[in-house]
Order: sequence, then structure tokens, then C-alpha cells
Amino acid sequence: MDPKVSKADSDLRKMLSEKRLKSVEDRRVSSEVFDRITMKTLYQLANAGYLDILNGAISTGKEANVFKGVHEDGHFVAVKVYRISTSDFKKMQYYIQGDPRFKVRTTNKRQLVHAWVNKEFRNLSRALEAGVLVPKPIVAKNNVLVMEFIGDEKGNPAPTLRNKPPKCPEKTFELLIENLKKLHQEAHLVHGDLSGFNILNHDEKPVIIDVSQSMVLDHPISHELLERDIENVVRDFKKFGVVVSREDIKSEITGQTQ
Ligand SMILES: Nc1ncnc2c1ncn2[C@@H]1O[C@H](COP(=O)(O)OP(=O)(O)OP(=O)(O)O)[C@@H](O)[C@H]1O
Ligand SMILES: [Mg+2]
Repeated sequence: MDPKVSKADSDLRKMLSEKRLKSVEDRRVSSEVFDRITMKTLYQLANAGYLDILNGAISTGKEANVFKGVHEDGHFVAVKVYRISTSDFKKMQYYIQGDPRFKVRTTNKRQLVHAWVNKEFRNLSRALEAGVLVPKPIVAKNNVLVMEFIGDEKGNPAPTLRNKPPKCPEKTFELLIENLKKLHQEAHLVHGDLSGFNILNHDEKPVIIDVSQSMVLDHPISHELLERDIENVVRDFKKFGVVVSREDIKSEITGQTQ
């Protein structure tokens, strides 16, 4: 490594560990996962007051790590950090190019990931505005997204529906469909990766997460992905004992009878 880069890298790590992002666990995580720009981004977000401490990993996914952070004021935030090296660059390019909101014409992997994070931020804002239960987005910078932490006041993250089936499946299902209807008819978005893995069970309320790939209805594959989303949800709720037809759910979500 260039000695200058290496020096900046170690300085940044030192600053982060000493000043704000100070837990032992973070130092371990940071040296393994975070590259220099990610560290710098986290440092800048910390300096701007968005997060004070990164407090342990919630999840390590295919492309992103989600951490629990603590804001200056003491409340928890969720910090999603996309790893540039393991991002599915082809998928991102395909989804972004079909979305008229984004004019990204790049083959630069980092730029694409940044656009992807920005897309997740915008999709969350759009869904929230339509009244959909999603985490409130707080800030997106480079490959880092800070959002509302979904969990209890002690800092335990809400489990996914896969990990914690609803106590009253009919009711949770009804709420979910209400939310998907708003997502479709008011936010004009299709989730695109919906299943019990991307729905949190927050005190029996279904909170929809992981909307980076969500697309506007104009996107050429939105219809196909809507069908897949419905199929996944119907299948997952069938396991909980809720039996519904895909056609009925589709008409309800889209407001159109076939
Ligand atoms: N706002 C949040 N509050 C609490 N926990 C969260 C929040 N967002 C995500 N999580 C946790 O992190 C996990 C992974 O988040 P998410 O689904 O957004 O990323 P991912 O599946 O790893 O993404 P990708 O597949 O693109 O790598 C979730 O299953 C959930 O447990
Ligand atoms: Mg997910």
C-alpha cells in the first residue's frame, strides 16, 4: 500500500477508535470490513452528530453490514454499510438504469454503490411519505445509510417475521397488505425483494425494510417483481396459517381487478 494512504488509514482508524466510534467490537469490525473511504464516511457522520458510537453488529448480509449506532442524544440508530467489494455490481447497474429517477451512466463500482444507497434513502423517504411502515431514513452518505432503529428501547432489534412469526397472523397480514397498497398506489413503488426476511415484526406490526432494489412502477421489470413479491408473501403467510389467493392480493394491492 502507498505509505501515504497507509498513514491516512491508520490515522483515521486511530481517530475513530479514540474519539467517537469507540467500542472494542467496532475496532475489530472496522479493521476487518471497512475500507479507508468507509471509515472516513463514518467519521464524517460522527462529526456531523448523526452517530456517536457504533455499538455492535445487527446483521452481516451478502452486500451490507447493519450496525446499531447511538446518536449524540442517546437514541439508537441503524447504520447500514454497503461493502463495495462484495456488492452485486451487475444487479445494481440493471436496476438503476431502468429507473428514470437516476441518470447514472457509470461502470465505476464505488459510484454505483453510492447511487444505490441514495436510491434506498429515496425509496424509504417516498414510502414513509405515503404512510408505509418503514424505518425513517436519516442520512445517506457514500456507502452508508443511517436510519431509524426498529426495536425496543433497550436496543434489542426487532426480529424478522421469519424469526418471529406473528401472534395473530391474520391481523399482521391485513396490516401488511394495507402497507403494500400504500406502497403501490401512493408511493408508486414495487419492493422487489419482499419476503418474511425483509419484514420486521415490531410489536406485531410489520415494518418493511431493505428497499434499495425497490423500483418505480415504470421500471420494465416492476410487474414481474410484484408477482414474485406477492408469491413470497402468500407463501410465508401460508406457513402462519393465512390462506389467500395471489389474484385477490394483487387486486387489493394494485387497486385493479384483472
Ligand atoms: N432499521 C433497522 N432497525 C433494526 N434492524 C434493522 C434495520 N434495518 C435492518 N436491520 C436488520 O439488519 C438485517 C439486514 O438488513 P437489510 O435486509 O436491510 O440488509 P441485507 O439483507 O443485508 O441487504 P443486502 O441483501 O442488500 O446485503 C435485517 O434483517 C434486520 O435484522
Ligand atoms: Mg434483507
